[in-house]
Amino acid sequence: PRVVFSGIQPTGIPHLGNYAGALRQWVQLQDQESENTKFIYSIVDLHAITTPQKPDELKQWKRESLAALLAVGIDPRRSIVFYQSSVPAHSELMWILACTASVGYLSRMTQWKQKLNIASECQLEEGSVGSRLKLGLFSYPVLQAADVLVHRASHVPVGHDQQQHLEFARECATNFNHAYGAHLVHPKTIIREYIGSNDDFGIRTPINYLFVAPVHRIMSLSDPTSKMSKSHKLARSRILITDTYEEIRGKILAALTDSAPGISYEPAKRPGISNLLSILSIFDPDQRSPEQLAQVYSTTHPRSFKETVSDAVTAGLQGIRTRYMELIDDGRYLDQVVAEGSRKARQSAEETMSIVRSATGL
Ligand code: TYM
Repeated sequence: PRVVFSGIQPTGIPHLGNYAGALRQWVQLQDQESENTKFIYSIVDLHAITTPQKPDELKQWKRESLAALLAVGIDPRRSIVFYQSSVPAHSELMWILACTASVGYLSRMTQWKQKLNIASECQLEEGSVGSRLKLGLFSYPVLQAADVLVHRASHVPVGHDQQQHLEFARECATNFNHAYGAHLVHPKTIIREYIGSNDDFGIRTPINYLFVAPVHRIMSLSDPTSKMSKSHKLARSRILITDTYEEIRGKILAALTDSAPGISYEPAKRPGISNLLSILSIFDPDQRSPEQLAQVYSTTHPRSFKETVSDAVTAGLQGIRTRYMELIDDGRYLDQVVAEGSRKARQSAEETMSIVRSATGL
C-alpha cells in the first residue's frame, strides 16, 4: 500500500507558493484512484515553534490552516488531517532518530546555514550566535524525518525548498535501519517541474502512476529573487489563498518587474515577469507552461499583463475563498475533523512505534 504524507507549518494562511508548490498536488493525489493509498496531511505546529510564536496567534493560525486545507479541497473522508502535536509519537520517534543522526549532516543543511548567516550578520557581541540559535531549529529536519517515517510514508509531495529535508529523512531511515534492522520505509519525494524550466533544483522524480501538476516555485512579489514566504515582513510580497479581488489586484499591480517592453520567460534576467508567468500558469485552464504563456503574451504591455494575471488569480481562488469563509466560522466542524484525524493518525503512528520500540529494546 502507498502512503502519501506531507505537512505545512501553521504560520499564517497559506500563500500562492504553498498552493502551487504543495497543496494543489495534495488535493490532486487525493482525488485520484486511491483504493490502495492512504493520505495523511499534518499541520505541523511543533515545527512552527522552532521560531518564537505568540500562543494565541499560533492557536488561531492552526485553525486557519485547517480551514484553508479543507477549503482547497482536502476531504477528511479520504485524507487524515491532524495537528502534529496531537500525535506524541512524532516527538518520540524524533528522539530515537536523533540518536543515530549525524550532527555534521545537519550543520550542512541549506536552511540552517541561511539562519546561521542571518544570525551572524546581526551579531552584536562575540559568541552571541550560539545563544541566539536554538537547538529545536537545528534539529528541525529530524522532526520532519520522524513525521514522514512514523507513518511509513512512501511518497511525500512538497515544493522545491523541502527536497534537502527529505534527503535527510532517507538518511535517517538508513541510519536507523543500519543500527536496528530494516524496519523503516524510505520515502520518495514527489516533485515535478516543467521540462526546460530554468531552475537550479534539477531533481526530477518520475512518478508514472499518479498524476501531479507541475510544481512551481513561486517567488516573492516584492523581491522576485527570493521565494514567496509566510515570514516576509511585507504583506504585499505574498498573495494569500483567501485574498480578495482588491488585495490580489493591488499586490500584483505593485509587483516588482523590470522596465523592458513585452513579456518573456527569463527567470534569471527578468525574475519579476517570469514569476508572474508562473503564477498565471497555475490557473491556466489549458495548463500551459510559463514558457508557452510567454509566447502568447509576448507583445502585451506589462501593465495590462498584470491585469490579466490578477484576473486569473482572482477567478482561480474565488471558490477557495468562499469555502474558507464558511469553514472558519464552523468551529464545531473543524474540531470534529481534527479529533477524527488525530485518532487515525495516532493509530497509524502506533503501528510503526511498536515495531521501533521493540527493535530498539525500549
Ligand atoms: P512550509 O510550511 O514552509 O510549506 C508548505 C509547502 O509549501 C511549499 N512552498 C512553496 N512551494 C513553491 N513556492 C514557494 N514559494 C513555496 N513556499 C513553500 C513547501 O515546499 C512545502 O511543501 N518543513 C515543511 C513542513 C513539514 C513537512 C514535513 C513537509 C514538516 N514535516 C514532512 C513534508 C513532510 C515546511 O516548513 O513547509
